[in-house]
Amino acid sequence: MDKFKPEQLQFSDLAISHFSGLLKNEKINQSIRIGVKKAGCSGYEYFFEYEKTHAQDDTVIKHDDCTFLIDPKSFEFLKGSKVDYEEDGFNKGIKFHNPNATSVCGCGESFTVDSDKNFSSEVTSQVKKKIKILPHEEFCPEGAIIEALPGESILEACLRNKIKIEHACEMSCACTTCHIIVEDGFNNLEDASDEEEDQLDKAWGLEQNSRLGCQVYPIDEMTVIRIPKYTINLVSEDH
Ligand code: FES
Repeated sequence: MDKFKPEQLQFSDLAISHFSGLLKNEKINQSIRIGVKKAGCSGYEYFFEYEKTHAQDDTVIKHDDCTFLIDPKSFEFLKGSKVDYEEDGFNKGIKFHNPNATSVCGCGESFTVDSDKNFSSEVTSQVKKKIKILPHEEFCPEGAIIEALPGESILEACLRNKIKIEHACEMSCACTTCHIIVEDGFNNLEDASDEEEDQLDKAWGLEQNSRLGCQVYPIDEMTVIRIPKYTINLVSEDH
């Protein structure tokens, strides 16, 4: 049964020709998954992956020799969008014109949505979650309990509340300075990506419940975190 209505997601000719070029070089994977995940400087970001087969609940869209797969949660965010391919000087790539995005960051890869709209609760949480930060001599001597806004990472919530955890790579998962240890609520967090795991391996004082604050979003009503005594920067500079 075809549940997809073409007006729900459109592709420009340039976008189709771009994807078709990519798929021509793929021997095993014959489809492209388009999705939305929590991340980025503005809350959510688009991602693309090659796929061999589709899941039962995927929306499947065929255009010429391209097959696109979209999971139901991502589809809620993408509905009504036009997927385009644009070249602007040295910048070129896929651009989303997404009517659900209330603001888009400069790179065009991440965006926010109106939290009053009913997007899937598995992708975005409408309820503000609390984060308890255990006392840290430098960043939070008394300890604190703060609230995270929907779509906000633990690091973003801390920074907004003036708990200045280091973030040397500006939250791009390329350093370990936002290393935190999750004392309570660890098991319910989304799994770490391979990139996060790789970075964590370099963290000072790595523990079983270590995460990168910029990559992790509170799930439980209250998540308890501890900021390690040192970061990799401090160790190399001062210790
Ligand atoms: S700020 Fe660099 S990994 Fe989080």
